[in-house]
Amino acid sequence: MAIERTFSIIKPDATRRNLTGKINAKFEEAGLKIVAQRRIQMSEAQAKKFYEVHAARPFYGDLVKFMTSGPVVVQVLEGEGAVLKNRDIMGATNPANAAAGTIRKEFAESIEANSVHGSDSPENAAIEIAYFFAGTDIVS
Ligand code: CMP
Repeated sequence: MAIERTFSIIKPDATRRNLTGKINAKFEEAGLKIVAQRRIQMSEAQAKKFYEVHAARPFYGDLVKFMTSGPVVVQVLEGEGAVLKNRDIMGATNPANAAAGTIRKEFAESIEANSVHGSDSPENAAIEIAYFFAGTDIVS
């Protein structure tokens, strides 16, 4: 499988509980390299645009409120099949359905406060990475 990059967010429920290091250890133990990382406070406009694809969903307003409720850590992860690998490491969106050993099983509080976001395809990964990082911010 080819070396890929995926986009990741450590969400406010996780930064609030000081879990950045524990979550990063999961990525690194699984062979993903953190090639860019920045802790930010997302603005409402940024969160709305990032989650635009969910704009018609009933949870959109709450999702934007949650993602701006505290700091997040935006990241680029790199490795073999990084998009799918990261989805395995994260586990199912709803922690109630997440497999043992996954980030969401171990750390998520609810389907909304589910600790991490990860891109769902290489195409979306490229779009999401470019939303937060310049090419020169990413060092393999
Ligand atoms: P994420 O991967 O960040 O993409 C969209 C987010 O919406 C998702 O993770 C969830 O945290 C959040 N969300 C909140 N409620 C729901 C829901 N009912 N179904 C799916 N996603 C939800």
